[in-house]
Amino acid sequence: MPVTHFATPDPYAYHNGFCCHHESEALQGALPLAQNSPQKPPYGLYAEKLSGTAFTAPRKENQQSWMYRILPSAVHRAWEPVPTQEYDATSLSGADVQQIPNQLRWDPFDFDDAVDWLGGLHLVAEAGDPVMKTGLAIYVFAAGQSMKANEAFYSADGDMLVVLQHGVLDLTTEFGRIALRANEIAVIPRGIRYRVDMPNGSARGYICELYQGHYQLPELGPIGSNGLANVRDFQVPRAFYEEDFNTWTLVSKFNKVLYRTSQDHTPFDVVAWHGTYYPYKYDLGRFNTIGSISYDHPDPSIFTVLTGPSYQEGTAIADFVIFPPRWLVQEDTFRPPWYHRNTMSEFMGLIAGDYDAKAGGPGGFRPAGASLHNIMSGHGPDAVTHRAATCTDLKPQKVGSGSMAFMFESCLMVGVTAWGLQHCQKVQPKYNEESWEPLVSHFDKSNVGAGAANQNGH
Ligand SMILES: [Fe+2]
Repeated sequence: MPVTHFATPDPYAYHNGFCCHHESEALQGALPLAQNSPQKPPYGLYAEKLSGTAFTAPRKENQQSWMYRILPSAVHRAWEPVPTQEYDATSLSGADVQQIPNQLRWDPFDFDDAVDWLGGLHLVAEAGDPVMKTGLAIYVFAAGQSMKANEAFYSADGDMLVVLQHGVLDLTTEFGRIALRANEIAVIPRGIRYRVDMPNGSARGYICELYQGHYQLPELGPIGSNGLANVRDFQVPRAFYEEDFNTWTLVSKFNKVLYRTSQDHTPFDVVAWHGTYYPYKYDLGRFNTIGSISYDHPDPSIFTVLTGPSYQEGTAIADFVIFPPRWLVQEDTFRPPWYHRNTMSEFMGLIAGDYDAKAGGPGGFRPAGASLHNIMSGHGPDAVTHRAATCTDLKPQKVGSGSMAFMFESCLMVGVTAWGLQHCQKVQPKYNEESWEPLVSHFDKSNVGAGAANQNGH
């Protein structure tokens, strides 16, 4: 039996804070003082560095961590491709993506309790290439089984931002343990080993894997020093380790192909660590939502939780944006999102409740479903929502109670996989037709003061 050690009596203990240096030890004195790689690290541990950026990246971007572990991560046998019959070889490759201008919406994706984390990953959309460290990949996941005993995983392709929609996930990582619960997200940066247990069975959600750079907090500009996702609300696991010399299987996603190796020790043997490169979680309920208190509403970028920047300032490979419960108080304003076409692509999902720009219910935008409005494809509120918004008496109104919608927004044109377009069998065939074709003209050139509300008979 492995011997498990925790930094504190709570196996899920966290450091608070993000974009900053943390240090953690599960055994007092395991963290070397005043140097990173002493001749003899405490307790006979090995020092190992994990680089999240080039050594020479600017200080504000540089992410590196030092780990003090029982055995180095290099101690394993040769990697072999996982036989393709063990998983759907095309499901992760992105080889079958199509870039199409159609607006797409999916019914809720099915649960699949027969599979574990690796079997439950479905690539829906992708742009770019892990080889060149460009772009992103969007997955839905649905699984009900813990990963096999003594099995761990990492992605060499990018940072995985996990949006939990249903169930709970217990993540064991090299840096410690993360209990992912309702309305929370987790980010597992590139290369970090982890395993996923599902103590309550069925779990489902979405993932945005960032092939380029790392997620960071957006600049706040004139908002000031607080607001949106606050630094202190990100939770970073405390050191946790096991003494376990049983045989472990390690699976790597390496340029979208799964490889496997074995080793006679657990990968979760980091007794202490310090640095700026680590996994973390965030409770979306802690988001400080900001909006208009006069007229119109700001761009949805005001709801950005995390951003994965491109090399062009202000332009994201992936923005993670949420639409939390909030008050709308704007006067003389069409309050739902405007009709628009965007140079960015927009993949949306719904964690719970009803999204205020689209009707819910059967055939609508529902929890565990999704939509994609690709580059320059027109979209906006459906006819029902438009009519309600133009006819309503504009009082202060709370929207989104019990709801949490989100968006992965990218400057890149994403392609949709065959799984997303066909195999999942969730694409709504009449999304466009039912959402926008019912919109009619209210144009009346004889009446300059005629707003849509008047023309709707109110
Ligand atoms: Fe949009």
